[in-house]
Amino acid sequence: MTNIIQRPRRLRSSFVLRDAIAETWLRPTDFIAPFFVVAGENITQPIQALPNINRFSVDMWLGQLERALNLGVKTALIFGVLEAHEKDAMATSATNPNSLMPTAIRAARAAFGQDITLISDVCLCTHTDHGHCGLLQQTARGTIIDNDSSLTQLAAMALTHAQAGVDLVAPSDMMDGRIGFIRQALDSHGFAEVGILSYAVKFSSAFYGPFREAAGSSPSFSDRATYQMDFRNAREALREIALDTSEGADLLMVKPALAYLDVIARVRSATVLPVVAYNVSGEYAMLKAAAAIGALDEARAVRETLTGIKRAGADLIVSYHALEALEKGWL
Ligand code: PBG
Repeated sequence: MTNIIQRPRRLRSSFVLRDAIAETWLRPTDFIAPFFVVAGENITQPIQALPNINRFSVDMWLGQLERALNLGVKTALIFGVLEAHEKDAMATSATNPNSLMPTAIRAARAAFGQDITLISDVCLCTHTDHGHCGLLQQTARGTIIDNDSSLTQLAAMALTHAQAGVDLVAPSDMMDGRIGFIRQALDSHGFAEVGILSYAVKFSSAFYGPFREAAGSSPSFSDRATYQMDFRNAREALREIALDTSEGADLLMVKPALAYLDVIARVRSATVLPVVAYNVSGEYAMLKAAAAIGALDEARAVRETLTGIKRAGADLIVSYHALEALEKGWL
């Protein structure tokens, strides 16, 4: 064999040719925009740990949904940020139809009808005074996060959101059996058409730090390691998605995204359900911080990061970057 050099470079020789053979594309509809909603009116509150992301009162938030829709992002994930006096040990406010999240959901539905897909985060951590995602119980082994009493409250919370008009509920608590429990509660109350985006593979992660500042949801003692997954495990992710699928999940999430691209790829090949990746708050803050000191070009780094998550196998990406990136033409 003389003289034969294989030349992959031929297909890289021009911008248009590279575009023609590109395997992965980002579209506005690939994104789910996360939002933090607070009580009150006319409020836009910066979040120190998340540059360029704000908490909004419902009226201002509707303007943000309009902004997202104009950019082609048609799916919103809603987090309610409650005040201390609304929190208690039993997460009572989670099932109050007049509390913040159902109010926000009703307002968005009234304003945009079916032009938008509304997803609500279902978790007790923003409603409990102790900040855990489930309810506490004192046992002979000490204070534990009790699985089965939490299921009742989570299912009631999901039902409250369904009654307010949400399209999908997204349980992020990591209690065992919650998908089946929520499915059953929705079905038996006439909400068979409301779907479940399961945070099926949610790791106990340092990268949720800024979110906990944004949502005021840090646990007041201990951590979330008894319910969220250990980041050393990938086979266990397949167990979690098998369970959630059998219990009735419609979409499966892997979270965080960047330290878990292998898990996204494995989940992608193990399921036929749509896979969602959550590019979490710490991942966003990290890139923002690097850009702020001039260590990298933010536009290119954001595009490369989001493309990498999609290439790994995510159908949809929850990302704090999405709106800014689309607005500024980074993608
Ligand atoms: C609630 C919840 C968390 C996130 C989404 N839902 C925080 C946590 O589990 O502590 C994190 C999102 C992010 O970091 O962007 N359980």
